[in-house]
Amino acid sequence: MEAGMDERAKTVVADIAVVGCGHVGLVVASCFATLGHRVTAIDVDAARVASIRSGVSPIYEPGLDALLRQALDSGRLEVVEGTPDALRAEFVFLAVGTPPSTGGASDLRAVRDAVTALAPVLRPDAVIVNKSTVPIGTGDLVAQMAKHFGAPGLAVVSNPEFLQEGTAIDNFMRPDRVVLGSSDARARERVAALFEPLGAPMVLTDLRTAEMIKYASNAFLATKVSFVNEMSSICEVVGADIAEVARGMGFDERIGRQYLRAGIGWGGSCFPKDVAALEHTASTFGAHPQLLRHVIEINREQRRRVLGKVREALGTLEGRRILVLGAAFKPHTDDIRESPALEVADLMQLAGAEVLVHDPHVRQEAVSAAFPSLALADDLLTAAAGADALVLATEWPEFVDLPLDDLAAVMRRRLIVDGRNVLDPATVRGAGFAYRCIGRPALEGDPPSTAPNWRDAEVDTDTLGVGTPVGRR
Ligand code: UDX
Repeated sequence: MEAGMDERAKTVVADIAVVGCGHVGLVVASCFATLGHRVTAIDVDAARVASIRSGVSPIYEPGLDALLRQALDSGRLEVVEGTPDALRAEFVFLAVGTPPSTGGASDLRAVRDAVTALAPVLRPDAVIVNKSTVPIGTGDLVAQMAKHFGAPGLAVVSNPEFLQEGTAIDNFMRPDRVVLGSSDARARERVAALFEPLGAPMVLTDLRTAEMIKYASNAFLATKVSFVNEMSSICEVVGADIAEVARGMGFDERIGRQYLRAGIGWGGSCFPKDVAALEHTASTFGAHPQLLRHVIEINREQRRRVLGKVREALGTLEGRRILVLGAAFKPHTDDIRESPALEVADLMQLAGAEVLVHDPHVRQEAVSAAFPSLALADDLLTAAAGADALVLATEWPEFVDLPLDDLAAVMRRRLIVDGRNVLDPATVRGAGFAYRCIGRPALEGDPPSTAPNWRDAEVDTDTLGVGTPVGRR
């Protein structure tokens, strides 16, 4: 048996500390406790710690409250505020935030603070496992810092987290792969032993490669979405249906079916931050990340495209009343970070529209903190009363199944702009609405919008090589 396999066979129950109880940290802490380990979750925010101790997750993540309570009841999870005097943990997972700072660089203050505070209280043989998404080279910096703060023996392993909000527990328990990067092969094997029961393929590599795998993965997925969004604009001018195009592409296993949904673009706490950070790192080191720049620009353009569709259909945005469905950056989360829905709502407000936002889980305080002038409405039909248009921006299940007849009865104009392509065009049109979406053809008999010439866009059929001009949609 290899030395590494010995390590993996040995670890049954470990003492683990998880620093940072945000989305990643809380899921990781609860899942490790569920797997039978003794876990200390640490956070500097007193209110957050109090909520977690009482079994209430401060973040909305399906299944997390139940998992957290189970972990607390089992006695395997304790939650600590601030820095403990001593930590018995052999593994210290860093899951602190690395928000974007100016120019796309990541703000590493929380990582530095955590290492500064913890290095003096750790066991000499502890392994620092970094889960936070950090610029390439940060793992080396952490090792240098640990040395500086009197813990020269500490090993550092990079273990990027790939969990998605909304399916985070399943992503942790059934990962596609586990990536572990370190120059210390023994430490890497000790961490590998923790993940062995999950049965996932392991990528054992060096620190910088592991850090790069995380960025490259997110940048690739964001690129895939921007690619399909660019295809959707081409579909619009040539009269093809992007949903069918994506379906047809997805059967090819080399392409795959996922991340091919066209819409108002990507957002969230990871894609925008990570693509910008990778672009920034690459530029800083003298590389020319041209593709990444276009991927970001296409994503910005998607917001403007939605705005253009509403403006085109209504003639103007000035004074028009618009209901935006969705505030979260995607369904099944209350996270509004870099939410395309709120960015579109904000842009429409700036263009003079009277905008209301409706979301089943997001609270007004969260929206006000980021967009002070955007108002959230609790009830769909009350909010829709007198609206000139409804923009579907986040595909919550309740928005996919809208009460169209009731909406038609209360809205001033019957216009739905489907920014996620989730409604059935025929059903929406059948209920008397004008329907716009992203990259799908207009239908015969579509009710005319209030704007002149909306179906009669000039299309140069000679250049495009298509038979009949298609209306803008
Ligand atoms: C992402 C990565 O998937 C995850 O591996 C990483 O750990 C964190 O970042 P998450 O931020 O939860 O996860 O969002 P994800 O589900 O990947 O969606 C990102 C954005 O892309 C969302 O705004 C979503 O609406 C958009 N998207 C996704 C599309 O517009 N079309 C698609 O086909 C897929």
